[in-house]
Amino acid sequence: MTVKKAVIPAGGFGTRLLPATKVIPKEMMPILDKPVIQYLVEEAIFSGVEDILVVISRGKESIIDHFDRTDVNLHYIRQKEAIGLGDAILHAKSFVGDEPFGVILGDAVVKSEEKPCLKQLIDIYEEYEGCEEYKGELGGVIGVREILLEESHKYAVIKSEEIEKSCAKKQVKQVKIESIIEKPPADKALSNLGTMGRYVFSPDIFSCLEGIGTGVDGEIQLTDAIDVLSKNKKVFAHTIEGTRYDTGNLMGYLKAIVDFAMEKEDLREELIKTSLKKQNIE
Ligand code: UTP
Repeated sequence: MTVKKAVIPAGGFGTRLLPATKVIPKEMMPILDKPVIQYLVEEAIFSGVEDILVVISRGKESIIDHFDRTDVNLHYIRQKEAIGLGDAILHAKSFVGDEPFGVILGDAVVKSEEKPCLKQLIDIYEEYEGCEEYKGELGGVIGVREILLEESHKYAVIKSEEIEKSCAKKQVKQVKIESIIEKPPADKALSNLGTMGRYVFSPDIFSCLEGIGTGVDGEIQLTDAIDVLSKNKKVFAHTIEGTRYDTGNLMGYLKAIVDFAMEKEDLREELIKTSLKKQNIE
């Protein structure tokens, strides 16, 4: 079964970008001439997704207005209280039904050279799904990247084992997730692989989400549900090709703007000139 649906959770507070996010949702903050969420919707479409559910909350209606005149199948659901990413994903249960689906976090922009980020995961998921030994066993494929151990408290960090036997065509090794912990201190981090805001799940994730309580920061954590899922089904990690920007914090947001601007012919030269002048280097 191919992945035709994606969920973009965009119901969070955005406290790290206050006061900018008092009225403007962080997903609507612009990177040059496009709001963050537009990059994400485009990524979903370029990944072959046909229906996108955006989870919003009070004060985030500008997202709906922004996409008023597009041909994409965008759907919305309101999360009454921002009590965690896990809760936001649970709101997608009836939209998703009995199909695998993608998740693109509303504040994680990925610039990739080869394939759109979500497509990288979808391709792996579909390969595994076509594999006889994983029939009915596949729980998901999670995008990861290498992180600095001293920054483990900002990520969900996985513990994995490499599986030799592979029915996947291209991948030589498969990284199966054994457990995953939300925001561990460096001495509790089980590896240097952290999640980066892209996932493909089988619908089994929903019963896992229903079974967990509140976790780190008093929130319903998607990570805790993935941990349960990894005990019942096969959940794989895949290292993403591309640069990931956490646009939900000031430095990540700034890096995204500068990098995207440096790629634009008409902005690059002027930007370098101005910044060199400011530093009295010229
Ligand atoms: P974050 O973990 O960055 O949380 O969410 P946040 O609350 O938005 O940010 P801060 O910490 O207050 O600055 C990752 C993604 O999950 C969504 C967010 O909108 C963001 O796109 N999210 C988070 C929800 O949809 N609902 C929630 O309850 C929490």
